[in-house]
Amino acid sequence: MQRLIIKGGKRLGGELTVQGAKNSALPILAACVLASGEVRLSNIPALSDVYAAIRIMNSLGVKTRFSNGVVTADASDISQVSVEEELMRRMRSSIVFLGAVLARTGECRLSFPGGCELGPRPIDMHLRALRQMGVVINEKHGELICESPHGIRGAVINLPFPSVGATENIMLCAALAEGETVINNAAREPEIDDLGRFLNKMGARVIGGSSGTVRIKGVKKLHGCEYSVMPDRICAATFMSAAAAAGGEIVLNGARAADLGAVNEVFRQAGCIVGEDRDRIFFSARTPPRAVRNITTLPYPGFPTDAQAPVMAMLCKAKGTSVVTETIFSSRFRHVDELARMGADIKTEGRTAVITGADKLYGASVVAPDLRGGAALVCAALAADGESCVSNVELIDRGYERIEKTFAALGADIKRENR
Ligand code: EPZ
Repeated sequence: MQRLIIKGGKRLGGELTVQGAKNSALPILAACVLASGEVRLSNIPALSDVYAAIRIMNSLGVKTRFSNGVVTADASDISQVSVEEELMRRMRSSIVFLGAVLARTGECRLSFPGGCELGPRPIDMHLRALRQMGVVINEKHGELICESPHGIRGAVINLPFPSVGATENIMLCAALAEGETVINNAAREPEIDDLGRFLNKMGARVIGGSSGTVRIKGVKKLHGCEYSVMPDRICAATFMSAAAAAGGEIVLNGARAADLGAVNEVFRQAGCIVGEDRDRIFFSARTPPRAVRNITTLPYPGFPTDAQAPVMAMLCKAKGTSVVTETIFSSRFRHVDELARMGADIKTEGRTAVITGADKLYGASVVAPDLRGGAALVCAALAADGESCVSNVELIDRGYERIEKTFAALGADIKRENR
């Protein structure tokens, strides 16, 4: 087990380069299965979730290499149609391989992805859409056995909720389908647009990007290409949350301001200065930040649920009372009890948290409950007086490349220890 030892109370300053987006890299890695040829992906972050996706690709017969942020993948001779349970359980979002394997081979067997620390993670919207496209799906003993005896055909799919994963799965399955697929009420996250651009570079015919309506005209074959994955907007939001909580000025190279609209607005309401360039953000925070009356997580372009925990860490030191409502996941406040151990004053009632800013936070031993909750604890520890120990760092490594190196380069006193 590894842990981070953080001596907080130091202002942050300096420049960082935002890593490639985990939530774009994962569906794009799955999409490599569609191509009969070599794909070269750059700006791929070295994360445990990325390694998990590469393991699934290897198990399917895709030839892969990964070094220095570049993944090459050749799915010319894909040989498998099933994904082992151990690989599925390791990462819930591996469900996005379903659409890609079905499109390429017409069949797929994989186990139901587990729930996760955020609560149940149903895939009913994924399965209903795939059935509309002609996929026959049998669920037996936790396994999904999928076939398409009459081929996969385009359909008009009306999503009851703009699910990111369901939108991605449908796009992947539709890319090689017979005819056109229209996804209404599609997710509008920037990662959807990134996936559409990548598919088109492989020769697909996707239009609509993150407009909320995505049209995919199926083609016969997709070829290899080169592509660079978008920057990680949630990592950018996390680093800004830390600077807002601890105080400081940071420059985030690569951060696309357009992806962070609702987040930048919250930081401005907290009294931070957010300067936006095309692909750089200048961020300056006086301490303490001001409370933000009402933050509600919503599908894009609303405030992103993945930024909720890190921003809450900032609010723990904000002057006044803030209210955060989590509408996307049923159990995404597991960082609250850990923040309270550092002196935070947070009351939760269902999906609403009321945060009363404290003059000080105090170093403590805390345990990362999940990926973004763990990142929030690091942000709070950087702003706390005294030494903190954050354990379960493996959960943070799922989404942040060597988080301690990024913060150390900004002047933080932080190091990783093997226990
Ligand atoms: C993606 O998860 C992201 N993961 C999540 O990021 C992110 O929080 C989420 O989108 C929302 O933005 C990846 O991209 C790998 P959803 P996903 O389908 O696709 C319900 C992180 O920290 N739902 O938009 O699973 C679901 O239960 C992770 O990086 C159904 O009910 O999100 C949830 O309440 C965490 N039925 C809501 O919709 C379905 O068939 C949003 O889920 C599908 C989803």
